[in-house]
Amino acid sequence: MYYRLSLGFATVITFSSVNVQGAATPEALNKTSTNIIPNGEGPILYYNGTGDVPGYDLVSPDPEPITPLNSASNLEDHFYKDIFAIANSSAFASDNCTQCIAGAQAIHSAALTLPVSNFVNLLIRICEAVPAAQKSINSATCSAEFGSKANASIPYSSGGAGLGAYMAQAFSKMSLATMDMETYCYYRWDVCPRPQSVGIEESLYFDDKPGSANKAPQSSSSTLNVLHLSDWHLDPRYDIGSEANCTNPICCRPYSLNEDFGTTSVNPSLPASRFGAYLCDASPDLVLSSFRDMSNFFDLDSLSFTIFTGDVGSHDHDDQLSRALIEYEERIMFDTFQAWLGSTPVYATLGNHDSIPQAFNTQNDLNPSNGSNAMGWNYELVAGMWHDSGYITEEERQFAATHYAAYAHTAKEGLRVISLNTDLWYQANAFNYWNSTNPDTSGMLTWLAGELAACEKRGQRAWIIGHVLSGYDGSNALINPSSLFYSIVVRFSPSTIAGIFFGHTHQDQLQIFYDYLPNSTYAVDGTTYRNTTMVDYNKPLMVAHIGPSIVPLTNYNAGYQLLQIDAETFEVVNKQVYIANISESLTWTTPVWQIEYDARDVYAMHASNSGSAPWPEHAPLNATFWHAVSEAMLRNQTLVEVYNLYETKSSVMTKECSTQACARQKVCYIRSGSGALGKACGTGAGPS
Ligand SMILES: *[C@@H]1O[C@H](CO)[C@@H](O)[C@H](O)[C@H]1NC(C)=O
Ligand SMILES: *[C@@H]1O[C@H](CO)[C@@H](O)[C@H](O)[C@H]1NC(C)=O
Ligand SMILES: *[C@@H]1O[C@H](CO)[C@@H](O)[C@H](O)[C@H]1NC(C)=O
Ligand SMILES: *[C@@H]1O[C@H](CO)[C@@H](O)[C@H](O)[C@H]1NC(C)=O
Ligand SMILES: *[C@@H]1O[C@H](CO)[C@@H](O)[C@H](O)[C@H]1NC(C)=O
Ligand SMILES: *[C@@H]1O[C@H](CO)[C@@H](O)[C@H](O)[C@H]1NC(C)=O
Ligand SMILES: *[C@@H]1O[C@H](CO)[C@@H](O)[C@H](O)[C@H]1NC(C)=O
Ligand SMILES: *[C@@H]1O[C@H](CO)[C@@H](O)[C@H](O)[C@H]1NC(C)=O
Ligand SMILES: *[C@@H]1O[C@H](CO)[C@@H](O)[C@H](O)[C@H]1NC(C)=O
Ligand SMILES: *[C@@H]1O[C@H](CO)[C@@H](O)[C@H](O)[C@H]1NC(C)=O
Ligand SMILES: *[C@@H]1O[C@H](CO)[C@@H](O)[C@H](O)[C@H]1NC(C)=O
Ligand SMILES: *[C@@H]1O[C@H](CO)[C@@H](O)[C@H](O)[C@H]1NC(C)=O
Repeated sequence: MYYRLSLGFATVITFSSVNVQGAATPEALNKTSTNIIPNGEGPILYYNGTGDVPGYDLVSPDPEPITPLNSASNLEDHFYKDIFAIANSSAFASDNCTQCIAGAQAIHSAALTLPVSNFVNLLIRICEAVPAAQKSINSATCSAEFGSKANASIPYSSGGAGLGAYMAQAFSKMSLATMDMETYCYYRWDVCPRPQSVGIEESLYFDDKPGSANKAPQSSSSTLNVLHLSDWHLDPRYDIGSEANCTNPICCRPYSLNEDFGTTSVNPSLPASRFGAYLCDASPDLVLSSFRDMSNFFDLDSLSFTIFTGDVGSHDHDDQLSRALIEYEERIMFDTFQAWLGSTPVYATLGNHDSIPQAFNTQNDLNPSNGSNAMGWNYELVAGMWHDSGYITEEERQFAATHYAAYAHTAKEGLRVISLNTDLWYQANAFNYWNSTNPDTSGMLTWLAGELAACEKRGQRAWIIGHVLSGYDGSNALINPSSLFYSIVVRFSPSTIAGIFFGHTHQDQLQIFYDYLPNSTYAVDGTTYRNTTMVDYNKPLMVAHIGPSIVPLTNYNAGYQLLQIDAETFEVVNKQVYIANISESLTWTTPVWQIEYDARDVYAMHASNSGSAPWPEHAPLNATFWHAVSEAMLRNQTLVEVYNLYETKSSVMTKECSTQACARQKVCYIRSGSGALGKACGTGAGPS
């Protein structure tokens, strides 16, 4: 609104916005600042703040606080009441997602304001009041889960797993601005819709893919042997003869019992064989027998190197784990490697059970002003073991110890092995709910892309090893970091990346990565982003091998695989899986290992369309090969059952996959290299 003042006989004011025009009287514009209408005996009334009207600059007193929240325990009570108000409020009606976000926001505020001891106490009190929370913990009591006080009166428990202090750190960093509460409520409580994956701004991580990167180098005709071990879960507390079919996992412990049968480890329904059981971690003799029997199948001296894709730690309850136990398990594993494999190097990667609390891993930039890293001790520990075992150099040790337990090591001239800490994309790691819209909070994937770019420049090939797989059914890897990983794999495959190896599921599985569709990029304000779910399922680029576990948990046989690798391109040319049949473990005098299958023998016949030539003898079992196998699975239910059986290492406990729907879902999982793609399979929206 504006007004124009025109001068003349009378002052005329035009109000343009209301379009009113009229002459003002002299009285109406008389600027005398006291009242012109007499006020009798009353006070003079002033205009424009003159006279004794209080000035503009006066400050008024604050109200007295109604509730003096001036002590930590008052604040703790306040948050406790608020959180239950959110939990009980009818305001959210059936919107459990918004309710969860509100609760997580309150816990975030509590983490920011309360001393850690009060925050821990708050978690314990909430847990003790909410039956659902008690079900979600993995300790004898709420205080044993979140608190860190020893309590000798709880049998088989330290009394304090100490998760609360880590949760205080993680929750203090969460923010609504970066969708952290939504992401947390989706993954941890399953009450929010799946968050959209962010578009990946690929230029932040790597340059454009040159045409030359779309071709893998020519295979040679000579091969090397590489051993792939995964998921030992060696149980140094394995109790021979205890309840092996328990209802309070893990089984094969002195306290194991079966509530349905009313049995305990004194009168077990199924006694734990010294050599292993389906619902238990690996017994010492089962682990040792795998090495002892290897020489029945191949010459140990023929191994170029071994990869171990993580998880030596046992599945103890949180309050049974300790830093000392993890350190002990790690140490005896590396000593055992040395005993059986001698100086043959083992390239290992950190699994979610190789840290404490289980799966928790911190980014260095979580607290940049301070620089302290709550998990720094573990990165130092494992990096030191890898180095002391002679597997990585001092420079690589230093990098791993001070970053995220990741390293890149030239294993052979022409081959770089890059080991990632995949807990940094694992949904069970509380520290991943910080800045959820950033696909690389640790910087590890930026580092990976840099390593691969350097390999490309040198003409060197690379293997990526990690524990938690990037995709498959989407239940493990978070959407945004695994989407960025997918982009990195597409950029450097098949020319530079020669193989990807994971563990974690305990099963023998595959995961195929495909090229993107040409229309998968879009621009916002001049910046180009990649929609990583727009995949061209006709263009397979790379395959990840998920290695079978030594551990039989859950209902699998024990297994490992031997890879034949092209000596020049380092691509997998064939593999054999070896197993021990756990359903016979009570009848053994010593574990019996056998070959389960040879990949070419089983799958090569399915890799070429009828009429075309069979898969060439020296050609790698690459993404093109496995894509063709997955196509055949959509046509051939028998083949689906074969893959399904081998997934469990031919366990007698295998669940059948005899329907078209099951086959389609399985193929969808195989074709899902990221969390977003895997999650889409569940809704039937994914590829088949
Ligand atoms: C304004 O009002 C005062 C007090 O009534 C009077 O003395 C004065 O003459 C008036 N001025 C004009 C311009 O009318
Ligand atoms: C009203 O007061 C302000 C100072 O607060 C002064 O600048 C302005 O000229 C006054 N208006 C009249 C009509 O005296
Ligand atoms: C709110 O929830 C808590 C925990 O479930 C319960 O103990 C309490 O009685 C509830 N209060 C109301 C007013 O419903
Ligand atoms: C919300 O959670 C409550 C309590 O867990 C449950 O009974 C209800 O079914 C949930 N509502 C929806 C829409 O999922
Ligand atoms: C294990 O126990 C459950 C009951 O808790 C029973 O249903 C199942 O058949 C048992 N399995 C074996 C292998 O004994
Ligand atoms: C960072 O903070 C931790 C915890 O407050 C403290 O123990 C440590 O000394 C700090 N480190 C540095 C480098 O300031
Ligand atoms: C969160 O990530 C974005 C990039 O996605 C970055 O710009 C921002 O600085 C990060 N926030 C924090 C607190 O690190
Ligand atoms: C992208 O391209 C594919 C293949 O050409 C097409 O099927 C799809 O509809 C396109 N999607 C969009 C969003 O343009
Ligand atoms: C990415 O593509 C999917 C289809 O694959 C679509 O549903 C989604 O909305 C797209 N996301 C963005 C940010 O464009
Ligand atoms: C896989 O190997 C075959 C046979 O050598 C080759 O034709 C194909 O291009 C390869 N695929 C990839 C993705 O490298
Ligand atoms: C289906 O796969 C099985 C298992 O490999 C094989 O024996 C059979 O010949 C295949 N059937 C057809 C029609 O290809
Ligand atoms: C494992 O042993 C069970 C019981 O003897 C037997 O039925 C099954 O065929 C065996 N499986 C394999 C793969 O040898």
